[in-house]
Amino acid sequence: MKTVLITGASSGIGKAFAELFAKNNYRIILASRNEEKLDLIARQLEISYGVSTITIPVDLAQSSGPVLLHERLQELGIQIDVLINNAGIGSFGLLHEMDVSSELEMLQLNVHSLSHLMMLFLPAMVQRGSGHILNVGSTTSFYPCPLSANYSASKAFVLSFTESVANELQGTGVTATALCPGPTGTEFFRTSKMDGQSVANPKGLMSPQAVAEVGYKALMGKRTFVVPGFQNWILTQVPRFFPRKFVTRVTRSVLEQKL
Ligand SMILES: NC(=O)c1ccc[n+]([C@@H]2O[C@H](COP(=O)([O-])OP(=O)(O)OC[C@H]3O[C@@H](n4cnc5c(N)ncnc54)[C@H](OP(=O)(O)O)[C@@H]3O)[C@@H](O)[C@H]2O)c1
Repeated sequence: MKTVLITGASSGIGKAFAELFAKNNYRIILASRNEEKLDLIARQLEISYGVSTITIPVDLAQSSGPVLLHERLQELGIQIDVLINNAGIGSFGLLHEMDVSSELEMLQLNVHSLSHLMMLFLPAMVQRGSGHILNVGSTTSFYPCPLSANYSASKAFVLSFTESVANELQGTGVTATALCPGPTGTEFFRTSKMDGQSVANPKGLMSPQAVAEVGYKALMGKRTFVVPGFQNWILTQVPRFFPRKFVTRVTRSVLEQKL
């Protein structure tokens, strides 16, 4: 039985990934901070799909988080076949008015931890000549977003980083994929304090299940990146044909619109 490690598995896209991998008969390792939620999801997966699960509570916004997670899996003697680097948070507001420590925590989670986990799990995968990694970016990976400056830059990192590493991995049997969703119906907008903005309008949201399915197919198809939804894909490609300053003005006006 193959094993998948999913970070941020306690809700939203990560939880949808857990269900999808369970349907495909993987052993599921669920990691995030909320142990109670992880245990509940793990029990549901065991009952519904008969798969084996392990929950590992860990705060990946702490610099020690990735090492603690890797060490715990080594203690348990578990080899990871697929890593879903999904845990992430957003933020909303003018940079000069933001709480510095919260912004730094977000960068630690969205950038440092994601890269650190890849560096911890890749060597064994390359040695074995097999493995898949999926990093969750965003449509904001493709353009600057004022009022979400650190967040959009963190997601630009995810896409650029994944594309570079995917190229390095050619011929090793290991693949890296960036999943770049647009607005999705999860806890994200509430925790990012964006739930009053029109971008969080429920009518425009994809379901986390649909996003995870697109990511799963792209991962198994060894694609370097994928944008779920045709409209989201258009929104990531059109800006390339316009001056960046204009694109930046447009993304700001979109983010400023209230519900
Ligand atoms: N929803 C969207 O519109 C959207 C669009 C583009 C990209 N994304 C990306 O999709 C990914 C998943 O987000 P989501 O939309 O599914 O949101 P979500 O429902 O809020 O899920 C976020 C997950 O990250 C975990 N997490 C947060 N802080 C953590 C920490 N310090 N350590 C470990 N885990 C932590 C949360 O679990 P705990 O609270 O239990 O720790 C939760 O499981 C993120 O990377 C996000 O940037 C979302």
